[in-house]
Amino acid sequence: MPGTGPETIRTDTRPEPMHDIAHLGSFELLSPKPDRTLWYFRELLGMEVVHSEKDSVFLRGYGDYATSTLKITASSTTGPGCISWRTTSPQALDRRVRAIEAAGLGEGWEEAGAGSGRGRAYRFRDPDGHRMEVYFDEQRYRAPDHLRSTLKNLPMKFVGRGANVRRIDHLALLAKDVGVNRKFAQQVLGFQLREQVLFNDGRDEIGSWLSPSPVHHQLAYVTDVKQAQGRMHHFSFWVDNREDVLRAADVLAENGIFIEAGPSKHNNSQGFYLYSYEPGGNRIEVYSGSYLVFAPDWETVTWNEEERGTGVFWGAPLPESFINYATPPVDAASVSTATKIPAFDPY
Ligand SMILES: [Fe+2]
Repeated sequence: MPGTGPETIRTDTRPEPMHDIAHLGSFELLSPKPDRTLWYFRELLGMEVVHSEKDSVFLRGYGDYATSTLKITASSTTGPGCISWRTTSPQALDRRVRAIEAAGLGEGWEEAGAGSGRGRAYRFRDPDGHRMEVYFDEQRYRAPDHLRSTLKNLPMKFVGRGANVRRIDHLALLAKDVGVNRKFAQQVLGFQLREQVLFNDGRDEIGSWLSPSPVHHQLAYVTDVKQAQGRMHHFSFWVDNREDVLRAADVLAENGIFIEAGPSKHNNSQGFYLYSYEPGGNRIEVYSGSYLVFAPDWETVTWNEEERGTGVFWGAPLPESFINYATPPVDAASVSTATKIPAFDPY
């Protein structure tokens, strides 16, 4: 009877959840020092090389089911290359391609290289100019004999090299206008908005954390304080527990890698983090903790400037560089690339 029982049922008036994007599939990192960058990921983070070609090397974490999840590409600068999202089916791929084209951000189909393990992909850019693609076809990874695990359900053996990260987890991009890019991720890609930080005027967004899967966030957009476009803040790898993050700090410090922040714990996302700069100059995170989200009607957690503070729950304050340093550096090239992008109107 109305009005007599506890209010356990409510009407959700939001659009029906979309599950066309399965997860973050792969990330391409540009490096002006590709040999040293490769050393960092292979020897210190413990990733495995699966393929090399002219300017690129493809790597994987031991727990990644895909053939490759990180592509290092030699470049004159730093920053993100192409960010790849796997769809849940071929039909879902078709639907997202139509939506991306309708948003005016599509660039066309491209055949993936032999080393990626992926089939054709549809290239596009987010409103800020970051290069992205969606794909479904994925070759099942078969570990060579020397890397085959004795565990039938583990794609590749745990080799115990360096920090030995399990898998890729998420990336944080900078954006000139967080709100426009957040709406693009929600409306066009179907991501769920997990947490956001608002300026005290309540209108503009400092940052938004989004995901297409139960992983807390696979994509974050944060305000670019230099108002450039197409830049990244960091790319993140998962380890199984907080002790593994501490071990990663030991490994990086022993090898002369600059540790910028952590190990400490964030308030939003509850992530236990360690940020370092790989030798090419990009910020890389080793990450654990956090939490999974299963609620289909998740209510976004919103923080104001005081509540969020510097983003640290406990541990040392984040340095100024955490706000001011990003890749690539602000220069004419990064801005001119992005200004070619047509405006996306989310309303
Ligand atoms: Fe992160």
